[in-house]
Amino acid sequence: MKMRLDRWLTTLCVDSRSRVKEIIRNGQVKVDGKTVTDPAFSCETETQRLVLRDSEIDGRVMRHVLLNKPAGLLTAARDPKQPTVMDLLPEVFGGIGCMPVGRLDKDTTGVLLLTCDGELNHRLLSPARHVDKVYRAVVEGKLTEKDVHAFADGLELSDFTALPARMTVLKADDCLSLAEVTVREGKFHQIKRMFAAVGHEVKELHRLSFGPLTLDNGPAEGMWRELTENETDMLYEAAGMRTK
Ligand code: URA
Repeated sequence: MKMRLDRWLTTLCVDSRSRVKEIIRNGQVKVDGKTVTDPAFSCETETQRLVLRDSEIDGRVMRHVLLNKPAGLLTAARDPKQPTVMDLLPEVFGGIGCMPVGRLDKDTTGVLLLTCDGELNHRLLSPARHVDKVYRAVVEGKLTEKDVHAFADGLELSDFTALPARMTVLKADDCLSLAEVTVREGKFHQIKRMFAAVGHEVKELHRLSFGPLTLDNGPAEGMWRELTENETDMLYEAAGMRTK
């Protein structure tokens, strides 16, 4: 990715933009072995070597964000008319190619991962990787054991047969029920369509987890945070891209 030197170092969290400019002007940064004193110097982040005060630093711009998606935002990099999840993040993330991993519907809330690692994004979405996604759904009508078995058998939808899914009924009244569902796929409107196939309309949908990622340590709804090192390791492991 082409990027100005000061932006590259800021993206790597070396320091604030203004301090980074100072550091560069003071001659403390080398790119491919040569001291660069111009903060606007154009770099190629994938291939160039970065040395700060005689120590080589990992220049890969790989940042991963956990967003607690509120209702009302599209899951898209951009949209000409409607607000998207990217509106909740600082601009730098869009600039380095951070993209949502899969989609949550506009009215769905909860765990949404965004990453600039295209391969990680692709692998996490592959059903072959068996990355579990857990949802909590409020649905119309009373869920029964028959519905639980139908989910476990793999529901026939109009264009595909869903893989067997675990559904647990947490509460079942005549009007509304509350259930938790674990799926490995991520097809369009999958959970809503699965419930519709057994005669229940989803009224509210919240994603509790995506693979190893949960909201147990925040962020609050509408907020974001970067993944911890441990979460990042677990995610790469889930994607089959890194083994401990
Ligand atoms: N399934 C749905 O129906 N909607 C979502 O947002 C996610 C999964």
